Amino acid sequence: MKFAWFEVAALTASVANANSLAYSPPYYPSPWMTGEGDWSEAYTRAVEFVSNLTLAEKVNLTTGSGWMQESCVGETGGIPRLGMWGMCMQDAPLGIRFSDYNSAFPAGVNVAAAWDKRLAYQRGVAMGEEHRDKGVDVQLGPVAGPLGKFPDGGRNWEGFSPDPVLTGVMMAETIKGMQDAGVIACAKHFIGNEQEHFRQSGEAQGYGYNISQSLSSNIDDKTMHELYLWPFVDSIRAGVGSVMCSYNQINNSYGCANSYSLNKLLKGELGFQGFVMSDWGAHHSGVESALAGLDMSMPGDVILGSPYSYWGTNLTISVLNGTMPEWRVDDMAVRIMSAYYKVGRDRFRTPPNFSSWTRDEYNFQHSMVSEDWGKVNERVNVQRDHAQIIRKIGSDSTVLLKNKGGALPLTHNEKFISILGEDAGSNAHGANGCDDRGCDNGTLAMGWGSGTANYPYLITPEQAIQNEALEYSNGQTNVFAVTDNWALTQMAALASQADVALVFVNADSGEGFINVDGNEGDRKNLTLWKNGEEVIKTASQHCNNTIVVIHSTSAVLISDWYDNDNITAIIWAGLPGQESGHSLVDVLYGRINPGGKTPFTWGKTRKDYGPPLVTVPNNGADAPQDNFEDGVFIDYRRFDKDNIEPIYEFGYGLSYTKFAFSDIKVTPLASSQRGEYKATTGKSQKAPVLGEPSTVSDNLFPEGIKRVRQYLYPWLNSTDLRASSGDPDYGMDSKDYLPEGATDGSPQDLLPSSGSSGGNPGLFEDLYQVTATITNTGSVTGDEVPQLYLSLGGNDDPTKVLRQFDRVTIAPGQSLQWTTTLTRRDVSNWDVASQNWVISGAQKKVYVGNSSRKLPLSADLPSVE
Ligand code: NOJ
Repeated sequence: MKFAWFEVAALTASVANANSLAYSPPYYPSPWMTGEGDWSEAYTRAVEFVSNLTLAEKVNLTTGSGWMQESCVGETGGIPRLGMWGMCMQDAPLGIRFSDYNSAFPAGVNVAAAWDKRLAYQRGVAMGEEHRDKGVDVQLGPVAGPLGKFPDGGRNWEGFSPDPVLTGVMMAETIKGMQDAGVIACAKHFIGNEQEHFRQSGEAQGYGYNISQSLSSNIDDKTMHELYLWPFVDSIRAGVGSVMCSYNQINNSYGCANSYSLNKLLKGELGFQGFVMSDWGAHHSGVESALAGLDMSMPGDVILGSPYSYWGTNLTISVLNGTMPEWRVDDMAVRIMSAYYKVGRDRFRTPPNFSSWTRDEYNFQHSMVSEDWGKVNERVNVQRDHAQIIRKIGSDSTVLLKNKGGALPLTHNEKFISILGEDAGSNAHGANGCDDRGCDNGTLAMGWGSGTANYPYLITPEQAIQNEALEYSNGQTNVFAVTDNWALTQMAALASQADVALVFVNADSGEGFINVDGNEGDRKNLTLWKNGEEVIKTASQHCNNTIVVIHSTSAVLISDWYDNDNITAIIWAGLPGQESGHSLVDVLYGRINPGGKTPFTWGKTRKDYGPPLVTVPNNGADAPQDNFEDGVFIDYRRFDKDNIEPIYEFGYGLSYTKFAFSDIKVTPLASSQRGEYKATTGKSQKAPVLGEPSTVSDNLFPEGIKRVRQYLYPWLNSTDLRASSGDPDYGMDSKDYLPEGATDGSPQDLLPSSGSSGGNPGLFEDLYQVTATITNTGSVTGDEVPQLYLSLGGNDDPTKVLRQFDRVTIAPGQSLQWTTTLTRRDVSNWDVASQNWVISGAQKKVYVGNSSRKLPLSADLPSVE
């Protein structure tokens, strides 16, 4: 069944009430790739390649070979007949997971805190180079979901910021960097993956809840477009090759079988040309998910480690028995191969030279079944000089939250420095001592879960501060550290002698498959970990120059102490990666003037942020329901709406100098430059069918391929389809269950808001130019981040939303004119009725300044319609 836009609009009023659950309307067929724009050359090559494949060979590109069957966290089959080995998928967002001789970069949240597009790009390139040279085809990042609806959401740090514009820009720059280095990026997790609790029913059993289905994120159409989809639009515009669908359901339909989010939004409206891969174990059906827009099953098995697949041979059979149209499998294969050619995989490829499953040089190649002994780790060093950019991002992302009386920078004249807190020191089990960083021992420089990398080393704050102080004083400074957070007596003794007490505290979080100290990925609360409050209290009672450094995955509660007079400075250093201590001393001693700005709000209480995480099932044994009733009002938008004063607002951060803003000017761009916004109309081409139709005998298991136990293959064991399937229910289902229109390859209506990668091209035209002058009124060179916010003016709109920013360096006494633009998308709202973006009649206003609440410049936006 295909719905007209007005029926869809009515159906997407999706938030549950007492009687009904949120509903995700069907949308079929799955849009086929067109090769538009930048994709054209890659598409042509992919079509040529795929046209020469058998059905089973195409299927082999779509299905993983099984959990732990190859070197990477996921690997598809290859095309042995053509000498093409399978594609390697590897985590990802801050460096290579499960590897060695690789770098550990600052986390995404730090990239957001640096507000620096160039650094985001450079980090993307550097990470891409490392993945490329280890033999990775798809680097499983960056992350825009979670966006950060919940401050205590476990994986926020893997992504960037709860602001969709800041996240969108950082997604785009990271993706461009990674793909310019020659690996396919993967924008994940699509979509509504805002919490760890209940993301998978099996995992929930591990913490005592027997639920049959994953949590449903119930998101209305406007919120979807204006908030959660926004950074994915930027990712698609940046040319991202793949998107990972999420574990959670969206409006009670699984992320990887959701025809509305995948077919309609991602491939229809946003015109996504790459491929959709499932998160690991997020694939729950065969034909259904294929028709709903899934293109690749990862890691291929029904559940991790099982010998069965929904796809593989079963996908081959579904085409041969006429259930699935072959054009859909063609489209999957073409999308995958287009991404491959687009980033130049054919030029850069090297087979994986590491194993995710052991650090031994020699071990089994098929780890799951202990088959084929051989060299699995070549120990190729891919680090290059990436330590430099890591150190720079670390210091440029450092946010100076408080600096009373110029307590910072330190001068090198300190006689006695106390370093207090476990977070200053090393993990007694080694920096990589806990699998996937699933512990909070020693200094915190990344969260836990699949979004981690092994450190090559980790420079601790203690080490860096001690080295710095001794080097500059020729060994004359007294430097002591107490890193046992319960040794308060010893801390008090040291603090009372010190001319500066540097206190280190942290708060960790991560992915839901690991529980750290009762935190199931998501944090239990926003307080400091490991007695951190007491450490701060002890230090500040005994030293009137106490400087607090926080390493945390997101906001923590600081109300009890932030305004204590003895606490002269507060620094948020986020999760800085391997160069942590070095990045910090560069800022502490003023070699780098801090220019980072907090990418999230620091509230006084957890309540100020809005609804809590769903941590107790609220729908019996069925899918827990998370109604996104906060709509677009997350983070600073929520604080503005409820008129709540935060402690430190989104976008805030101090410098060792001062900046003034003046002379705002808004210029509507000439109508010739502006163009007219036209809703897209018309129909697509019909679905291309490539090569000759397959016969059963074309797809029999080829001779000469060694069969590995439990390995997932695409071929048939016999010409008897039922026997080849191995599915006891084979043939029980009639084709009646297929959603209406799902197999229809005829030309389809185009959506009004579609038209190019990312949506209707008119949305990305510049409508206004805005200029403002920024002056460094202090005495040292520094970086400032001019931020442009917009009030869209409607009753349902946030007070203001971030729309543009840049990071600029200005010498003392100098001024700089900042010029930026606003696009049609920037000044539009999503209109549910017309299923398109519209510029409302409400008076709009722009604000420019250096935080979401320090906006000295403002101007009305003239109407352009
Ligand atoms: C599950 C995580 O959600 C995803 O981000 C990751 O890429 C896969 N596991 C593979 O490790």
